[in-house]
Amino acid sequence: MANIIETKAIQVFDSRGIPTISCKIILDDGTEGLAMVPSGASTGSKEALELRDAEKEYLGKGVLKAVQNINNVLGPSIIGKNPIEQQLIDEILIKSDGTDDKSEYGANAILAISLAVSHSASASNGSNLHEHFAHLYSKIHGKEIDQSIPMPMLNILNGGEHANNNIDIQEFMIVPSGASSFSQAMQWSTEVYMNLKKIIEKFGHSSAVGDEGGFAPNLKNNEEALKLIISAITESDLEPGKDINIALDCAASEFYDGKKYILKGEDKIFSSEELVEYLNDLVGKYPIISIEDGMDENDIDGWELLTEKIGKKCQLVGDDLFVTNKKILLEGIEKNIANAILIKFNQVGTITETIQTIACANENGYKSIISHRSGETEDTTISDLAAGLGVGQIKTGAPCRSDRVSKYNRLLWIEEENSHIHLK
Ligand code: PGA
Ligand code: ZN
Repeated sequence: MANIIETKAIQVFDSRGIPTISCKIILDDGTEGLAMVPSGASTGSKEALELRDAEKEYLGKGVLKAVQNINNVLGPSIIGKNPIEQQLIDEILIKSDGTDDKSEYGANAILAISLAVSHSASASNGSNLHEHFAHLYSKIHGKEIDQSIPMPMLNILNGGEHANNNIDIQEFMIVPSGASSFSQAMQWSTEVYMNLKKIIEKFGHSSAVGDEGGFAPNLKNNEEALKLIISAITESDLEPGKDINIALDCAASEFYDGKKYILKGEDKIFSSEELVEYLNDLVGKYPIISIEDGMDENDIDGWELLTEKIGKKCQLVGDDLFVTNKKILLEGIEKNIANAILIKFNQVGTITETIQTIACANENGYKSIISHRSGETEDTTISDLAAGLGVGQIKTGAPCRSDRVSKYNRLLWIEEENSHIHLK
């Protein structure tokens, strides 16, 4: 097996035109691994730190310091290591940074290397990246995992921080639960997406898209968005609640003021109890099978109430709540809040820690959903991660814009080339 002889990082750009990091690892057998890191907009307060230059250039968003940290410090610290030793390498990176939130060298710098290491290991041993992740899971956790193609959750209508409109809920996703293969799931989803475009235009709204490729029309409120999606499903000759379900990401921290939830689009101010009632009502009226960040990350009483009220009939996903952090997830499990976790590797900063968090969720009966960020690149590592670890669900935006579609396209190839790996 080959060893690392060189690491190189440069500043590149994400789907919003904002700087991010690309890192390359070169091995002594001539193979290479290349990766890019994503970036969020509606971030959880306990996420690992994304290091930005805070200089005049790029309006403060440059990542040249983080790039230098790879080229001058982190990269040299792993020269001579075998990339198959992901755990060992990630430990070196974590120790070398020395802080809990990776603020010394930047979680973006550390993740760029961590991902490039995985890519170089799979390139060198001639395996697919998803196979590599499946092996890594059993190495880290001591248990085998069945690979599977994840059910996609496609964000086709955008509000909140991801769009410049009136809608308070950040993401309205379709979940093609009735599909029997990933390619059928994508056929149905793209048909619904195309019909939604027609319907939005018919009502005289703009069909311009938000950061994750979903439409961002200026609708009256959340229910109008839900109704348009239901129409698009039936227009596609599909049955809402059977073929296609709906998932929401409320990103509630974005409309919480510390005491109350201020829903501008609805013209309502809700207490935690009232928001739980409102969400419960939506779940009763529409085929909503999953709600992410229904409550603010610090409103633990609200989370308890929400879980008690609808946790048996609906998947409740912690994104800003758990920030892919095993320790924070364990605290949530202890309190019995939520029943699923969103997994974003840049919230925690290494592949090893990401896998440890997923293993922890598996052990405790919590579901995991692998997720993109609103700022993405053409990097498709998350598709392999979702398939390799068999988590069963992925959310990576609308079937629109290559930063989103590239992930779905990668999964189409994984399905095509692996007859033993099926849609979960
Ligand atoms: P972000 O949004 O990538 O901007 O944080 C995605 C989400 O909240 O799930
Ligand atoms: Zn979210």
